[in-house]
Order: sequence, then C-alpha cells, then structure tokens
Amino acid sequence: MKSFKIAIFPGDGIGVDVTQQAERVLDQAASSSAFQIEKIRIPWGTEYWRSHGQVVPDKFLDVLRPCDAILLGAMGWSAELPDHITLAPLVKIRQAFDQYACVRPAKLYAGVPSVLASKGPDQIDFVVIRENSEGEYVDHGGRFHVGQPDEVAWQTAIHSRRGVERILRFGFQMARTRRKRLTMVTKSNAQRFGYVLWDEILEQLKPQFRDVEADKQHADACLMNLVRWPERFDVIVASNLFGDLLTDLGGLIGGGLGLAPSTNTNPERSYPSMFEPVHGSAPDIAGKGIANPIAAILSVAMMLDHLQEATAAQRIRQAVQQAIADRKCTPDIGGTCTTEQAGTAVVERLGNGS
Ligand SMILES: NC(=O)c1ccc[n+]([C@@H]2O[C@H](COP(=O)([O-])OP(=O)(O)OC[C@H]3O[C@@H](n4cnc5c(N)ncnc54)[C@H](O)[C@@H]3O)[C@@H](O)[C@H]2O)c1
Repeated sequence: MKSFKIAIFPGDGIGVDVTQQAERVLDQAASSSAFQIEKIRIPWGTEYWRSHGQVVPDKFLDVLRPCDAILLGAMGWSAELPDHITLAPLVKIRQAFDQYACVRPAKLYAGVPSVLASKGPDQIDFVVIRENSEGEYVDHGGRFHVGQPDEVAWQTAIHSRRGVERILRFGFQMARTRRKRLTMVTKSNAQRFGYVLWDEILEQLKPQFRDVEADKQHADACLMNLVRWPERFDVIVASNLFGDLLTDLGGLIGGGLGLAPSTNTNPERSYPSMFEPVHGSAPDIAGKGIANPIAAILSVAMMLDHLQEATAAQRIRQAVQQAIADRKCTPDIGGTCTTEQAGTAVVERLGNGS
C-alpha cells in the first residue's frame, strides 16, 4: 500500500482548530482508499516560542524536507510576537522548497451567498495561480539618506525567463485539466521591461498549447472584469504582486475566507509542497469554536490531488458540497455549527467510500 509522510503543522490561533478537523477528514479519506498516512507532528509557532525562545527550531527545514507534503493551519499571534518574526519561517519554506506555484481556487458552492449578488455557483469557478518565487517580492532594494528630506528608497522586481516560463507552463497544464482557458495578468502597458518579457513568453508558449485559449489582461482591467464577468475566467496566471491582489478578490467572490484553500506547490516534486487555508490565525475568533474548517479541509483535497490521489480528493469536495447543502456549516456562511460539528458533517458524508 502507498504511504505518504505528511507534516501536520497547526500553528497558531484557529490554525489549531481547523487543522484538527482537516486531519480527521484526511484520516477518513485514507481509511477508505489504497494509501496510508504517516504523520509528523509539528508543534511550531507562538506556543513553541514561549518555551524555546524561537518560533521554529534551528534546522526546521531538515525536519520537513523528507515529507511528501506539509499541511499548515496558520501562523501569527501579533499580541505577543510581531508577524514578521512569526511568519518568516513560512517564507523560508516557500523559497527553500522552490514552491513557485501558489494555487488558489475560487469556487462558489451552492447554498453560499457571494458578494456578487447576481452571480451563482455556475458563474464562479476559477483558479488564480500566483508566481510565488520572484517578481515584485524579491528582497532587492535599499534606502539612502534615511530620515533625511532627500531620502530615497528603491525596490526592484525581478522576472526571470525561467521563472515566467515555468509558471505559465504550469498554468497551461492546469487549464488543460479544466475548461481550457488561460488569462495572463500583468501591467505591460506601464512597465515595459519585466511584463513585456511575460508577454513575449506567453506568445512563445502558445503554439505548444493550441488546445488552450490564451489571452492577457492588464491587472486593473482584470480586477474589474472579475467582478462583472467572473464566468469568463478559468485559469488566471499572474506575477507575485498581482496574484496576491487577485487571490484576495477571488477568495471573497468564492464565498469568503472560511472556504478558500491554497497550495504552495513545487510541481516537480523535488521538495514537499505546502497546503494551507488562505486565512490566517484569526485571533478575534480563536478559542470560540466557530472557525470554519472547510478552507483547511479543501486544502487537504488539493494535497491529495498533488499526491495523485484524485479520487479521494474528489470525494472530499463532494462531501463538503453536501454538508453545505445540508446547512451543516459554521456561522460565517450562514450555519449554526461549531468547528467540530462542521468537521463531523464532512467526515460523515465522506463515509467509507463504498
Ligand atoms: N499563512 C498564514 O499563516 C497567514 C495568512 C494570513 C494571515 N496570517 C496571520 O494571521 C493573523 C490574523 O490576520 P488577519 O486577522 O489579518 O486575517 P485572518 O484571515 O486571520 O482573519 C480575517 C477575518 O476573517 C475571519 N476568518 C478568517 N478565517 C476564518 C474562518 N476559517 N472561519 C471564520 N472566520 C474566519 C476572522 O475572524 C477575521 O475577522 C495575523 O497574525 C496574520 O499575520 C497568517
């Protein structure tokens, strides 16, 4: 029987609550499939910092490296520790494990209201792929004459041919598994070096993916079009900065943070990929037992897709859909369940797979 080594990394705040439910769903899926899970418990985060004086151990990457995947809850407890300290290990994981594709689906489930009043589940089903390793978020810049009236700050975006080509290829390949439409988002009308490189590489790749209808939009137009015509989008590929903006909008349109899963993928599988809800540790509701576990549960489904266990992944999505249709969900999407009850509803609907 196949066996996957999974790092279970709940983190802080509601990360702990939702990961507990996601783990139950993973166990249930495994119990009725031809694979088993070996779990590595990861206790890092603010609690770990209280007793060890650091958020993660020194060689934390060595602990994660042998895993097949990482299931993360959320990090951050800014009342005690600044976010840039707590979240720094996550950035290191993404970079060290070359998790260059951040994938965030926006899919509205039946029974969940969208902020777009005139749009329903048939119109909202797209995926944003954010380039996760370079672009506008490379740490390259400086400040000169700090604090003086003539102070200057500069920050440089870096777009490499290798980086742009690999994320576009990843997008084309994903489009092939969906509705075969790809939209690339940049701002090449205003930034004539980096984003024009993106334009050129898109044109170079198109002949290799003739079965995919590919076009491009500027980021400002895309934001507007996503609000008025979400049904026209299937797979969106964007640079690091624009992907960051588009995934927040996508999460909102798709029913809110409680439903939005996410991956940080190393498509070549040279390193473990990381799967996590889009949301953070939500200190405002931590400990109240009302956090929606579905984003974390759908992240498990994405993890199983990555591990090539597509049948189990699809069964989880169907169980989530059924639980929402039966109104067995948390207050953020109109239900009355606790986090645990919402997790139980999915586990029950997942059944034994027969
Ligand atoms: N990858 C990560 O670990 C990650 C991501 C984002 C934010 N953070 C951290 O999380 C902390 C809180 O950040 P924030 O408040 O800006 O964002 P947040 O996502 O934690 O919460 C934003 C709002 O959405 C609600 N919400 C979030 N998830 C929910 C869920 N599953 N069910 C119901 N309601 C939910 C919260 O109650 C809150 O009102 C900060 O320390 C931040 O740095 C971590």
